[in-house]
Order: sequence, then C-alpha cells, then structure tokens
Amino acid sequence: MKDTPKDRARKHLRALLVQIERHNRLYYQENAPEISDFEYDCLQAEVKSIYQRFPELEHAEGPGSDLQENSFAQVPHWSPMLSLANTYSKEEFFDFDAKLREKIAGKIAYVLEPKVDGMAINLLYKNGVFFKALTRGDGKIGEEVTDNIKTIEAIPLNLRDKTYEEIEVRGEVYISNTDFEAINTEQELLGLETFSNARNLASGSVKLLDVEEVKKRRLSFVAHGIGANSHFFDQVSCRKWLAEQGFPVFPSIDVVSSVEEAWNFIEHFHNIAPQLPYKTDGVVVKLNDRNQQATLGATAKSPRWAIAYKFEPESAETKLQAVTFQVGRTGVITPVAELEPVELCGSRIARATLHNFDEIARKDIRVGDYVILQKAGEVIPAIVAVNKARRSSEARPVVVPKVCPVCGAPLSKTDEEVALRCTSLECPEQLRLKIVHFASKEAMDIAGMGPKIVDVITQQGWVHHIADLFSLWRYRNVWITLEGFGETLVDQLLNAIEQAKNRPLWRFVYGLSINGIGIESAKNLAKAFPTLDALWTASLEELQKVPLVGHCTAQSIQCFYANVANRKVLEALNQVGFSLTTEYLDENLAWSGKSFVLTGSLQKMTRSEAKQRIEQWGGKVSESVTSKTFAVIVGEHPGDKLKKAQGLNVTIWDEAQFEDALNAN
Ligand code: IVH
Repeated sequence: MKDTPKDRARKHLRALLVQIERHNRLYYQENAPEISDFEYDCLQAEVKSIYQRFPELEHAEGPGSDLQENSFAQVPHWSPMLSLANTYSKEEFFDFDAKLREKIAGKIAYVLEPKVDGMAINLLYKNGVFFKALTRGDGKIGEEVTDNIKTIEAIPLNLRDKTYEEIEVRGEVYISNTDFEAINTEQELLGLETFSNARNLASGSVKLLDVEEVKKRRLSFVAHGIGANSHFFDQVSCRKWLAEQGFPVFPSIDVVSSVEEAWNFIEHFHNIAPQLPYKTDGVVVKLNDRNQQATLGATAKSPRWAIAYKFEPESAETKLQAVTFQVGRTGVITPVAELEPVELCGSRIARATLHNFDEIARKDIRVGDYVILQKAGEVIPAIVAVNKARRSSEARPVVVPKVCPVCGAPLSKTDEEVALRCTSLECPEQLRLKIVHFASKEAMDIAGMGPKIVDVITQQGWVHHIADLFSLWRYRNVWITLEGFGETLVDQLLNAIEQAKNRPLWRFVYGLSINGIGIESAKNLAKAFPTLDALWTASLEELQKVPLVGHCTAQSIQCFYANVANRKVLEALNQVGFSLTTEYLDENLAWSGKSFVLTGSLQKMTRSEAKQRIEQWGGKVSESVTSKTFAVIVGEHPGDKLKKAQGLNVTIWDEAQFEDALNAN
C-alpha cells in the first residue's frame, strides 16, 4: 500500500528528530557541533511545520527531553526559564508585531537588545546574597554550576538591594572576542586543537569539572532579565535595577514604539555587530510593559511578548581546488584550503584554514568537492560543510603529509597533541617565523622589522636565528646598497634593534617562541622569576605554580633549555648584553591603574595595537564604560559606549587626541 502524506510526514519527522537529538548531543555534551545555528534552526522549523500540518504527531512523536545526564546537581529553577521564539524573516517579524497589537490596545514600546551568543544562566539570590547558579537545563530543572560561575568576577556576590527574600537574575555567560582569540593563541602554541567558536567554548567551560580550568576560560556575563519575584513594571526599570546591583548590562537602553523603528534598529545593529566585543546572532525585541506582557502570556516554550530576530550567516559555495600545508612558528602543520575564488560578505575569498587533519576527516572534505563557506560576523571565513550532492567521482581524499612541506624533515605527532609538527630545529620556515615573532610589536617591538625585511635578511644569509639580529650591523655597508633600503632605513632598523636590548623581561621570554608560552603566561613567568637564570633553573613544580603555566608548558620550558641548538642561541644572546627590565611591575607609569575603553575603528592602528600602546604605559583596556573609566577613545562608527561615556561625563578622545596623549607620555 502506498504511504499517505501523513505516513511520509511521520517518517520525515522521525528522521528529523533523530538528527536533532544527535546535534543536541554534539552541541551540549560533546562541545563539537557539526552544523551551524542556522542549519539547526532550519531543522527545528521543519519539525514545527510538520506539527502544524499534523498536530496529532506532536504527542505521538514528540521530542525527547533535553536534560543532560552528568555529575552536576539537578536543581529546580524558582520560576521556569523559557526560551525565545525566533525568526530569520522580516515578514514574520512584522507579523509578530501585528499579532501582538491585536491583543494590546493603546501605545506600546519595545526594548531592543543584542542577542548575545553565549549560554543562558540563572543566578539565584537569597536575601541579597548569591546562592546558586543554574544552567537552563530543560527550563524547569537546571544543573548547578555555582563554583564555575563564581569565577566570573563581574557577578556580584552581594546585591545592594536586600529587600528580596528570593530573586533570580537571568543572563548570558560568554567569552569576549579578545579573550577567545587569546585562548586560541595559547592553544595553538601548545599544539592543541583551537576552539571553533566562542559560544561553544563558553558553554563547554561552564560545565567543566575543574574550577581551575574554568578560570582560564575568562568567562564574562551580561544580565538581561529577572526570573522569580520581580516586581518591575517594565523592562527599562528592570535593567536599571540590575545595573544598580552591579551586574554588567548592555550599555544602552534602546526603546522604540513602532515596528518600523525596531526594524531600522535591527538593520543598523547588523552593521555594527562586528564591532561589539562579543559575538551576537541577532536582536531580541521585548515588549517593555509588564502588564502588557501579562496580557499576552506565554506558550509552553516561550513568551508571546518577545522575539529574537536572528541574522542568517552569509554563506557561499565554491570548489576546493587543493589543500596545501603551512608550517607554523613552532612547527605545527596547518592544512589550508585553496579555493576557487568566491565573494562572501563583500570580500573575495580564495583560502581558508582547515585547522587540522581531524577536522578534515570529521567533515569528510575531499579535494575537488564543493564546500560551503560561512561567515557570521567572524573575521575568518570557515568551511562549514561539503555539498555531498555535488561530489564527483574524481574528488580525492586529502593525503596527510609525512614530511615537512618546506624542509622535508619527518613530521611527528604526540599522543597529547592533535597537531602534526615538523621535527627539524633548522626548518627555514620555522626560523623565519620565529625571527618575525621575536621582532614583532607584541614581543621585542623592533620597529620596522616586519616579515618583508626578515625575508631579505634571511635570504641574504645574514640571520639564521634571533641572536643574529644583533650582529646585523656588520652588514650595514652591503645592506644600504640593496634595492629599497638606503642609509636612513637601515640605520633606523639598526637603531631599533639596539633599543630592543632594554625591553622588559616578559617580552624576551614571550619572544623566544617556547611552546605554550603566550603573552600572559610570559608576564606571569617574568613576575615569578625576575631573571632568565632563575627561569631556566626552576623545577617543574616551581614552574607549575605560576598562573597559566600547566604541566605541558612547564615541560616545554625545560625542553627548550635542554635543547643544544636553543642553548647556543641563548649563549649568543647573552653576549649581546641585554638589560632586561621588569617594567610591567612599574607602578609609576603614566597610565598605571587607569582604565580605557575603545570604541569604533581607529584609522592609524588596529585595536590590538591601541591596547598594547595603552598597556605599555601601565593602562588597562576594559570593555565597558563606567564612571571610573579614565578615557574613552573613539574611532569611526563608535558603538553605544560613546553615548554611555557622554552620559557619565567621562573624558572622550578622538584618535588624534589619543596619539597626542601617547606622545606626551
Ligand atoms: S531574554 C523568555 N535577552 O537567547 C526568555 N535572552 O533563544 C528571555 N539570549 O535563553 C530571554 N541574549 O539565553 C534574552 N538580550 C537577551 C538575550 C537572550 C541572548 C539568549 C537567552 C535565551 C536564548 C533564547
């Protein structure tokens, strides 16, 4: 007998539910999602449309519980944590407004907020004292993650307002863009797999069993609502109360009264979202007034008075022409996708990193495949999937190399690492990158000594390792005759090299390219061991006492020093006559203890350069403006931080004023 439409729908529904369950597991439990949020939402939307056509299937084939089994205590929320209805379509968004107005007579106001791409957390307070933190779980019962959440310094342990016997603060735990980048840089240095996105890292971190590990994940929090026992009559006053209690909140309160204005905001927000310090995937639109909210009520899953308008990630399909291999500074081999050039978010993309070989295997990516590139605000486009329907019989699996593509040395892989590494200590590519790193702004800050100049001096055979930089003066006479150089430039470079002899010790330690040592761990090491000798003679146990230095890094410091080639370089550096300072400890710098906020894009320097210049003078860069902020530096297209600064009467500098201030230091 032929299947009826309902039979077909049931089969399709079952397949969808199996897929959704799998993706839930990958996302929530394994922290290794295979599909984007958008694709996941599409699966959910398909399920919803089947339920609409055949409501009887909803009970017969309903989805299983989301609740995870693990070692966290299961604790009921004081009031349920609902989800938000979401849409990707302008039409549906306008429909939401129209339906809402059918039920609400009179004026309305919407509060508009970023939809932060993080993890929902419920904070329980008893008599104004922090009591417990719970994940959303199934909305009724969450998992208790109190200790992990306590690592977030911004969450107040005591509320100013102690009038509530019980109150729940709801918000999002996330990892800021700068912290995410820093964490991935450290992972790379350790030869560990980098994390694919900040949201998964945040949610994975909240559920780690080791609090010390959680601390390293630098979690942040923003409060966006109140659960049980709120008396507020609107969203705006609720937000003000949260700010008064000391919770981080969104910097501006955007309120509109028409759907058109809301839509304009959404479009504007889409443009400025990449400038925010965290990832967002849309805008949350909430009806302001609580009585009006109560009139509308909620479905079992979500309130009828709010909606999330989500941005579709931009994607493009193109052919993977080849996979090439890059050697990194510490020898890690990274596979790179060479693509048939394609337009994505206004730029032409011809290459994308494939991260590592496990990722290629997991996504079953073959040379000759059509791959889907996606970019959702992130700077680097990623290959999210293969279009298997277009796979030809000629598509070939990627062959994992056995030797270094640059020097031909064998590659190695240890059990702890996913990365393949070139084993040669003389690999010219590693040496070149190590020199570039040593001279870089973040390390020894040798002005002008960028990759192009390093190419020249290594090609000339003048520099084989970092210590050789300090004998470059020997080649001055030939150097000034090379095309593009001349006396002025060469003397400037030689002068900059000379100045680098008086840098802080941490810069030197960071500049050595020791596996596992990033900027922060180098600073900590230099604080703990004020001389290089003290560092080299420290025991494994002593090294591991240093914050951010684990067993692997401690070992790699000792291996670095045990290596004969490295010892030779260190001896040569010793001859140079450094006077490495402990500058970072200096409390007397011009901006010591002062906090700065950057907003908008600067023309003459990148954000990280600006941050570095501020830190060089003892200042700190923070993400949010408070009355204690020393100055807000405003570039083009500033965000809401400017408004907040104006509101708080905080000093505002444009780029030129910032430069003047730097020069004055
Ligand atoms: S309000 C009734 N506001 O999005 C639900 N949620 O998809 C009230 N989220 O579980 C939620 N940014 O974790 C709200 N500005 C924001 C948000 C936000 C992110 C998350 C939240 C929620 C999920 C719903």
